[in-house]
Amino acid sequence: MEQHLARSLLLGVGAAAAGGSITAAGAALGLTSFEAVWPVLTTCAVAAALVHNTKQAVTGLVDNRTHTLRNRIERIRRDVGDVHGLVRLAPYTLELPLPVGGGWALTGDSAALLARETLERKPAAVLELGSGASTLILGQILRKNGRGRLLSVDHDPMWADQTRRYVDLLGLADVVTVVDAPLKSVTLGNQSYDWYDIPTHRLDELGPIDLLLVDGPPQMRANPAHARYPAFPLLRERLSANAVIFVDDASRATESRMVETWTSEEAGWDSRWFDTIDGVCVMTKTPVAGVRNDA
Ligand SMILES: C[S@@+](CC[C@H](N)C(=O)[O-])C[C@H]1O[C@@H](n2cnc3c(N)ncnc32)[C@H](O)[C@@H]1O
Repeated sequence: MEQHLARSLLLGVGAAAAGGSITAAGAALGLTSFEAVWPVLTTCAVAAALVHNTKQAVTGLVDNRTHTLRNRIERIRRDVGDVHGLVRLAPYTLELPLPVGGGWALTGDSAALLARETLERKPAAVLELGSGASTLILGQILRKNGRGRLLSVDHDPMWADQTRRYVDLLGLADVVTVVDAPLKSVTLGNQSYDWYDIPTHRLDELGPIDLLLVDGPPQMRANPAHARYPAFPLLRERLSANAVIFVDDASRATESRMVETWTSEEAGWDSRWFDTIDGVCVMTKTPVAGVRNDA
């Protein structure tokens, strides 16, 4: 605002100076009287300043409105994606306590993709990093599949408790286990990460992982290292021959770089990207000619 005012004043003074020079030149040539013209000059200067100020104000208003409109469109885009996905997921969400999504949960369109992968692949063992609505959807689908167990880990004991309560409420406790896994510092290469301290016996009980859902831990703003990077190097050995890795939030620069790093660190993985609201990347092992991966 002060900047606008200063610019307007400068413009006014500039206009007055220019007008003054022209008028003085005119007066010197005897074309007009200086005394008669100065009020006109002042009016011109004030008008120029006003026009400039109005232009700035209108531009600011338009920028503001554009920003608000963009935010609204983004919200509508998210809502439409959510609803679209939830409609496709209806058979698995009707019984869920609402709201099932929103906030930090997988958006409806990403959850619908996850459901499709789970229905098609019928995994025997699923590991989920970051519990919530996705835990309940996965549990319902495993129940429908008639096979498969889900181990869901969460660093936040209150959040884990809440998910557990919903798991019990929906009668999914025989299919789903939610475990507390507080974050613990691990060092990979030269970088340290806060990573889930998953009880080893839980992973042993689960067996080779067919589906790994990477949706946690949350990215801490203060930490430039990618919070979810350790998932692949630390769990790689536990993945089954057919494993699929489902990465949520894949449209974020950090997640897409993470997938690129993973695939550059170990050859033999394909990644498919899906343009859902937050983006999804599905990583699968590249089929080797003549070798079946269905061990
Ligand atoms: C991205 S969320 C996981 C969401 C989960 N996979 C789902 O689809 O519902 C990652 C972690 O953030 C935490 N979290 C989830 N919702 C939250 C919320 N609304 N506010 C703060 N933390 C949340 C939980 O500890 C969760 O494990």
